[in-house]
Amino acid sequence: MHVLILGAAAGGGFPQWNCRCPNCRLYWAGDPRARARSQASAAFSLDGEKWLVLGASPDIRQQILDNPALHPRGADRHTPIAAIGLLNGDIDHVGGLLTLRERQALELIGTQTTQEALAASPIFSALNPDFVLRRAVALEESVETAAGLMLRLFAVPGKVPLWQEGQDVEIGGLGEATVGALIEGGGRRAYYIPSCAAATEALLAELDGADLLLFDGTCWEDDEMIRLGLGPKTAHRMGHLSMNGPQGAIVGLASARIGQRVFIHINNSNPVLIDGAPERGVAEAAGWRIAEDGMEIEL
Ligand code: MLT
Ligand code: MN
Ligand code: ZN
Repeated sequence: MHVLILGAAAGGGFPQWNCRCPNCRLYWAGDPRARARSQASAAFSLDGEKWLVLGASPDIRQQILDNPALHPRGADRHTPIAAIGLLNGDIDHVGGLLTLRERQALELIGTQTTQEALAASPIFSALNPDFVLRRAVALEESVETAAGLMLRLFAVPGKVPLWQEGQDVEIGGLGEATVGALIEGGGRRAYYIPSCAAATEALLAELDGADLLLFDGTCWEDDEMIRLGLGPKTAHRMGHLSMNGPQGAIVGLASARIGQRVFIHINNSNPVLIDGAPERGVAEAAGWRIAEDGMEIEL
């Protein structure tokens, strides 16, 4: 299985257009240790011809330009992107659909809940139903995608999309709003989980024996955004798990047997983004890599 990281950053990307946090300042100052990353998305393929893209990032046009594997081939209209899978309804995960509206046959897979969130926004009707097949799949149902890979969505602790939050938002519930994906093919098992609020026993059992895990690396510390003065929310309140700390992903997922562990969906505030940062060293010493745009993984 070929895996291509199209975008490694969380919503807003790195740098974020309006941010002067310590990381973004380094980027704006031209420091070579601060390399830009686009908003999270990963592509999977068995043959290199047909790809399953998980997450339609608002940066998808540039991501396609930057990755020759996704350039159109042959005559007239074509794309190697055969299917798109959606794991939540956040803007950084679905906004790129509006870039893919040019009468192209595509399969758009997601839970009923995420499909309903899209259907409730008439702007997405720009995706012509004569070409774009919207496919609602049940949790735990393993389906064959148009890219030839099998896909199974499963609930992870999460919440509704940010733009759907009301006064009392439940954090960490299990449902269809925030899901992880198992991608299977060629005898390999890869997981993509860009949003997850907790490392539970059920998640550990699910991941055990995986060849690859691409996992929510939004924040280094749970209170990182608050300490940096960037906002009032903890990572947990945003539906994400920190990397570090007793409740974090490094400790929480340590006991699962996983071939390769890669953090993705990394917020611009997270110090691991900076080459040479001590926090990057801690994550790497624990067996994790930090995703970059254009990273290729062969399974
Ligand atoms: C998140 O992952 O927390 C969301 O992408 C937030 C957002 O939509 O900006
Ligand atoms: Mn996000
Ligand atoms: Zn920033």
